[in-house]
Amino acid sequence: MTATAEASAPALHDALELVLADVTDQTPSIRSFTFRDPAGNGLPPYVPGSHVIVQCGDKANAYSLTGSGVLPDEYTISVLRVDDGGGGSATLHRLAPGARLTVSRPRSAFAPVATARHHLLIAAGIGITPMLSHMRAAAEWGHSASLLYSYRQGEGAHLDDVRELCGESLHECTDRSSFLAALAVRLGEQPLGTHLYVCGPQGFMDTVLHAASEAGWPASRLHSEPFGSADLDPGQPFSVRLSRSGTVVDVPSGTSLLEALEDSGLKVPFMCRQGVCGECVLPVLRGTPEHRDLYLSDAEKTANNSIMCCVSRSRDAGLEIDF
Ligand code: FES
Repeated sequence: MTATAEASAPALHDALELVLADVTDQTPSIRSFTFRDPAGNGLPPYVPGSHVIVQCGDKANAYSLTGSGVLPDEYTISVLRVDDGGGGSATLHRLAPGARLTVSRPRSAFAPVATARHHLLIAAGIGITPMLSHMRAAAEWGHSASLLYSYRQGEGAHLDDVRELCGESLHECTDRSSFLAALAVRLGEQPLGTHLYVCGPQGFMDTVLHAASEAGWPASRLHSEPFGSADLDPGQPFSVRLSRSGTVVDVPSGTSLLEALEDSGLKVPFMCRQGVCGECVLPVLRGTPEHRDLYLSDAEKTANNSIMCCVSRSRDAGLEIDF
């Protein structure tokens, strides 16, 4: 996962100060970065598929961790350089070992389902990073998993890693037609209880999820990890009542709740404005949020008592928030 943040970022809340220990080129445009604690201490563990927010100058990005998450003494991410992106990947690519960076604690939004009989992992391009974490964990815990990996010829990241980890359970594709053929086979041959996980560009994920749905897979067994929340639809208008003042703020279609609050002269903490950092969380007192963020866990989203106001909206005509 890579989610870009357009706005200048304040310091990350409750973050780790880490040192860049190693830099490795995966492809001409993808580079891996390994961070360690400067004092050599262990780092907080995480569940497979977790991500961290890396602050680089005044920008912040979310990146998937590529390890299994068990007793980590380092965090490794892989970053696609986007020269005209807003998230600082080009700056990150210029860093050398020894640099100090602020890195958030890991956050889980794409964890494997513990009860799954088999994990079918499907990745395109830089979407391989959370799958690497899943595959490492599956290998360590003896879980059944297979990987379908689509990449452009000559631009496959972590190929040595996934070939060693997956062996015969890896299928590589370097063109669309062979990928679609392999996908159709995989969707049709899975044992009952298989869960499917997909990460890549939005169009790629839409193709996979649509094909799975057409093949009869229930939505509860489909899991996706978008690169960010940049391409959200404008949504329906709604209004928000602020409980502390009684003020009602209208949120038009195409305007985020965060923007509407800012337009009303209110200050709300934020950092990424992409639903990944968790800085803009607001308590919900009444109404049902339409959660669009990558920060809240499934259980937190089901509880419906908080909202990431930079991307999420309301399913009802009105929300009331503790603000
Ligand atoms: S500002 Fe980062 S989740 Fe909203």
